[in-house]
Parts: sequence; structure tokens; C-alpha cells
Amino acid sequence: MNYIAPSFLSADIWQVAQQISTLEQEGCRYLHLDVMDGTFVPNISFGPGWIKGLRPHTEMIFDAHLMVEEPDRFLPAFAEAGCQICTIHAEACRHLDRSLRLIRELGMQPGVALNPATPLSAIEYVHDLVDLVLIMSVNPGFGGQKFIPQAQQKLKQLWDLREMWGKDFLIEVDGGVTAGNATELAHAGADLLVAGSAVLGKADIAAAYREVHAAANA
Ligand code: DX5
Ligand code: ZN
Repeated sequence: MNYIAPSFLSADIWQVAQQISTLEQEGCRYLHLDVMDGTFVPNISFGPGWIKGLRPHTEMIFDAHLMVEEPDRFLPAFAEAGCQICTIHAEACRHLDRSLRLIRELGMQPGVALNPATPLSAIEYVHDLVDLVLIMSVNPGFGGQKFIPQAQQKLKQLWDLREMWGKDFLIEVDGGVTAGNATELAHAGADLLVAGSAVLGKADIAAAYREVHAAANA
């Protein structure tokens, strides 16, 4: 089974409670939380306080994606907010090994994200510390961007590497995912597909979720 993680970034702030309960009714298990600091990426979104406010209202797995420079400073706050998966960017950490270990020590599942221009070799010495590797298929910072096709090849290579390493971390793809490319991405190796504008950005969220989920499992 391949899973869809709708991105909260595309939620309608006014309707968010209704939107999340619609996703839950559709059987959606993951909520992707895009945290942006205005330094690592040219945009600001929300922080651990917002996530903590959502936590009592849903059982969904909180899949936090920190687009934050030197995230160690904030990791305890994300653990306290109730994030289960905490993904940090290889490019944003001076001591990636230390940061990933800290996430685990705080009781969260560590993930590492790679920007489109970052080679897979960036995780060669940390792959045994992670539960998830996130391949960015757009340059991070905004929802609604166009999928960068090279990401597909990167997914295939990561799938091969995972086999070679004998690991079972999840492979997540993030950016420009639609019902139109979800099948190919799942076949290329993605286990978890982030969908922002393709799900929470649509008027009929239930239908949009079903469509992307069906495509990812076709
Ligand atoms: C981009 C974020 C994505 C974004 C995806 O910086 O990491 O998670 O919300 O949005 P779409 O699916 O619209 O590309
Ligand atoms: Zn994201």
C-alpha cells in the first residue's frame, strides 16, 4: 500500500477542522506539516505552537517537514507538539548525524530530506539513522509548483540503494504530486506521496484524496 500525506500548507485556515475530519473519514493516515523559517526557504509558514493546537483534534500521524536552518534548536518543541515523524534537510544541518540522533532521542522518527540539487550521496553515512528519506521534487518553499522530472530518476536510484543497504526506511516524495503522476511515482519507489494543492487545494477534498490515493495504488 502506498500512502498519501496531504499537506496542511494547502488547507483553508477557516475550514481546517472540517477538512481534516473529511480526510480522516476517507481513511487518510498522514498529515504533512510544512514548517518554513524564512531563512532556509523564502517563505514563512507555522511552527510547533500551531501543531500542538491541532494535536488533540486528530489521530492522524503528524509528518513534520522542517524547512528550517539548524533545526536542533526547535526539535524538543516539535516532539512536545506531538509530531511522530520529524524530517530535517541535509542542507540545513551542520551536524546532520547529531541532529538525526537527537530526533530519535526525543521519541520521534527521524527523516532526512534532500533538495532537488542534492545528490543521494548526502545520506550515504546516515541512512541507518533514519526511518524516512524525503525526495524533494520541487525547490522547497511553496505549494503549487511544477514537478521537477529528475526527481523520478532519483527515486529509482534511492529504491535501488535501499535494497543494496538492506534498509526499510520509507521513501517520501514531495512537490508537484498529482493524480496524473502518482502512479509513476509509486512505481518508481515512493511509499508516501505528499499532496498539497492536489488534495487540500481542491474544492472536493474527499474526491481529490480518493483520486490521488487510487493513482498511487494503481
Ligand atoms: C514545498 C512543501 C510541500 C508543498 C507541496 O516546500 O514541502 O510539502 O506543500 O505542495 P504541492 O503538492 O502543491 O506541490
Ligand atoms: Zn513538505
